[in-house]
Amino acid sequence: MEAYQDDEIIGKAYDSKLMKRLLAYVRPYRWQVAGAISLTVAISSLGPVRPYLTKVAVDEYITTGDYHGLFMIAGLIVLTLLVQSGIHYFAMYYTQWIGQHIVYDMRMQVFAKLQNLALSFFDKNPLGRLITRVTGDVEVLNEMFSSGLVTVFADVFVLTWIIAFMFFISWPLALVTLSILPLLVYGTFLFRKKVREAYRDVRKQVARLNAFLQERISGILTVQLMGREHREYQRYRKINRGHADAHIRSVFYYAIFYPSVELFSAVSIGLIVWYGGGQIVQGALTLGVLISFIQYTEMFFRPIRDLSEKYNIMQSAMASSERIFQLLDDDTVVPDTGTRNDTQIFRGDVVIENLSFAYKRGEDVLRDVSMTIPHGSTVAIVGATGAGKTTIISLLTRFYDFDRGRILIGGTDIKDIPVSLLRRHIGVVMQDVFLFSGTIAENIHLGNPEISEEDVRNAAEIVGADRFIRQLEGGYDAEVKERGAMLSVGQKQLLSFARALAFNPEILILDEATASIDTETEQMIQRAIEELLKGRTSIVIAHRLSTIQNADKIIVLHKGKIREEGTHKELLQKKGIYYRLYQLQYKDQELRAA
Ligand SMILES: Nc1ncnc2c1ncn2[C@@H]1O[C@H](COP(=O)(O)OP(=O)(O)OP(=O)(O)O)[C@@H](O)[C@H]1O
Ligand SMILES: [Mg+2]
Repeated sequence: MEAYQDDEIIGKAYDSKLMKRLLAYVRPYRWQVAGAISLTVAISSLGPVRPYLTKVAVDEYITTGDYHGLFMIAGLIVLTLLVQSGIHYFAMYYTQWIGQHIVYDMRMQVFAKLQNLALSFFDKNPLGRLITRVTGDVEVLNEMFSSGLVTVFADVFVLTWIIAFMFFISWPLALVTLSILPLLVYGTFLFRKKVREAYRDVRKQVARLNAFLQERISGILTVQLMGREHREYQRYRKINRGHADAHIRSVFYYAIFYPSVELFSAVSIGLIVWYGGGQIVQGALTLGVLISFIQYTEMFFRPIRDLSEKYNIMQSAMASSERIFQLLDDDTVVPDTGTRNDTQIFRGDVVIENLSFAYKRGEDVLRDVSMTIPHGSTVAIVGATGAGKTTIISLLTRFYDFDRGRILIGGTDIKDIPVSLLRRHIGVVMQDVFLFSGTIAENIHLGNPEISEEDVRNAAEIVGADRFIRQLEGGYDAEVKERGAMLSVGQKQLLSFARALAFNPEILILDEATASIDTETEQMIQRAIEELLKGRTSIVIAHRLSTIQNADKIIVLHKGKIREEGTHKELLQKKGIYYRLYQLQYKDQELRAA
């Protein structure tokens, strides 16, 4: 529900602060924009010339029977039309060109920002909303830049020209023609208000429809397993109905507004014929003037209709840009001010000193945690689910910022090390493995040019992933689809080991998957882990205690506090938490074996 709540904000159609910032995106293309505006202004000033020419044709050539003059003026009218169409082509091309370029820049900026935001940002912002920023909101701005902004100029320009021409030709008739203008303005205002409400409703319904659909598709397994198809179908039907109704409501207003504008225009023409006709009879007006006024009236109502549409575009563009800027201004980033560029430090010890941390103020998930991992040794962290194990890793790799306690690598505070350098030298095998679409090999080297094909194969061989990869159709070039749906959990784990090994980091962190796997795979993974840990400073978070019996030190974490530490043997002798954990698993294994 929350995902579309803030998408409901529909603000002003014009906000000078936002506009100023938007115009900054236009600056690189200011010459093109100036060109597009001059072109549209040229078109719009040519339009109102035609009725005037018609007036001249009627009054000066038709009524006097001047064939030659009539021919000339007809040619002139055709010529203005041709020139107008020609310019139109370039104007349209340029406005679209500008729009796409601006949107391209903006989308890159949003993406870059998204990639650099801290994880705590993503904890708070649902995926659907972020996708909307990069696609929907940016697209709305494209509409504003390419069709809105420039053509608004043109529309205002055309209207001014028409009014000027009308008054120039005959001001009394101009007054009569424009007498219904206030009514029209009021009608347009009313329409805009109604449509805005309806439009807001439509967007709400669309967001609802999408959110529901997205959830059901990603949860299709559960839907089918639990036999919920019929129930979900009914729920979808209700949402779909709401969506259709909202659309129909918004169309209703359009269906009233457009014919009304036609009606106004017809009334205007009626007034011209009635009043102008009378004047002609009295000899105060010529027939040409009357005809040109009818043409002007027809020309006049189109931009008015368009303007109200432009108003909607501007309104959603302002709302969209507000949301985009909000994202761009978000300062949930981990400060990256370190300048220590010495890679030598990664060959030193890792020391955690009095580390405390809370995701939410007041709810500490780590309390005064201290440990030393001497260079080249393996420290294992065990503890119940939610104990704070992964959190330690997230802080060490600087996914979250912290201010209580310190982490040192080779004697240097990690905050003094540039984040990218730090992460390059720490290899992390995550609890849940993420595979990108691409080939198996690409998923191991992740586009790092320093990793050769040979390295990829070597790494896979060492961790024992080679065997199953070669059985895949295409081997290392097999496509990984849908985040590796074709691979088993154990296989994905082995792939991520190969990935970590190929990157050959000095410090290795292993956050073991909780999922249980068969004994054979477990043994394979066990061997793979041994290979991975060789000669590296490593932290292993293990759920299967069998994984860590050889660790140099085991740390037992309980509710964010270190409760026990020592070797496997020492801890068993202590008969504390670790002992109990071990007993539980041991029994479990015996049961499985039986
Ligand atoms: N992004 C987050 N935002 C808020 N709270 C979080 C976040 N991540 C974890 N927590 C909370 O912090 C505590 C520690 O979580 P953590 O992921 O470190 O546990 P863990 O020991 O790795 O557990 P597991 O063995 O299940 O992986 C938990 O209570 C969890 O609810
Ligand atoms: Mg965890």
